Amino acid sequence: MTQASEETPERCPITGKLAPRPSADEAAENEQKTLVLTGASQGIGHATAKLFQEHGWRVLTCSRRAFTSSCPWQEGPEDHVQIDLGDPDHRSIGLAELKKRLAGGALHALVNNAGISPKSEAGSRLGPVDTGMATWRLVFEVNFFAPIVLARGLMEELVKGSGSIVNVTSIAGSRVHPFAGTAYATSKAALAALTREMAADFGPKGIRVNAIAPGEIDTPILSPGTSDLVKGIPLDRLGTPEEVAQTIYFLCAQSASYVTGSEIHINGGEHL
Ligand SMILES: NC(=O)c1ccc[n+]([C@@H]2O[C@H](COP(=O)([O-])OP(=O)(O)OC[C@H]3O[C@@H](n4cnc5c(N)ncnc54)[C@H](OP(=O)(O)O)[C@@H]3O)[C@@H](O)[C@H]2O)c1
Repeated sequence: MTQASEETPERCPITGKLAPRPSADEAAENEQKTLVLTGASQGIGHATAKLFQEHGWRVLTCSRRAFTSSCPWQEGPEDHVQIDLGDPDHRSIGLAELKKRLAGGALHALVNNAGISPKSEAGSRLGPVDTGMATWRLVFEVNFFAPIVLARGLMEELVKGSGSIVNVTSIAGSRVHPFAGTAYATSKAALAALTREMAADFGPKGIRVNAIAPGEIDTPILSPGTSDLVKGIPLDRLGTPEEVAQTIYFLCAQSASYVTGSEIHINGGEHL
């Protein structure tokens, strides 16, 4: 009888299949992964940066503000790039800086999270007519054009990393919302459509593209009257930034390897 060598994989007693040897894919899994995340200075973006960092990812963050010292993480200050995504010229400079930091290496995830939702001076919803043209343009620059510019600009690195893009849309992209303005809502609807288009075009390159559509998440972007909306939410509470971060992480991890072109609702059932 021949002795099984150390190299012989074990056979599963139930399926009878040989246990798989560690593959090149798994070896790649163990390499440190890199995320580019916009809007990391507070809210959903901050929770997302912390979660990926806890999972061992390198997180390249960007926002207008400097790195937050109130809730820091190791390597965070070195990996932060101050970019105003609403200014096309400044955005180009920021993109060049991100590419420099990636140094031609693989990018495994791009999370387009930064967003703005302007209100009237009194804090009310801005409709189609009372939204000034400068506001319309700024909202689309930040919420819609920045995700396109970053995805195009980082394509080479995303291909190398078989990357995952997550676009942060909103429940307001698919229905009229009492506080979210028209420019915001239409920019998010456009971003949802862009997610579909990108998923179809980037799939053959090995890049997955999905969106998450939060409802009422407890962050500074919320309007004062949001607590009244909670009464209509089946789960009867606001969501937390950490709950949203978990879904973003799922979409960027191997667990979602066959998920692309989807938009996941994170809203406690508010869309029902
Ligand atoms: N909270 C909710 O209930 C909710 C619901 C639906 C959708 N969302 C979406 O979720 C995303 C995150 O929302 P949040 O609630 O976490 O918002 P938030 O607390 O207001 O944070 C927004 C982030 O975007 C960054 N940002 C804004 N303008 C920017 C610009 N011109 N350039 C670069 N960064 C910019 C901000 O950083 P700086 O100020 O430092 O630039 C900040 O880090 C947004 O896309 C939002 O539309 C949120």
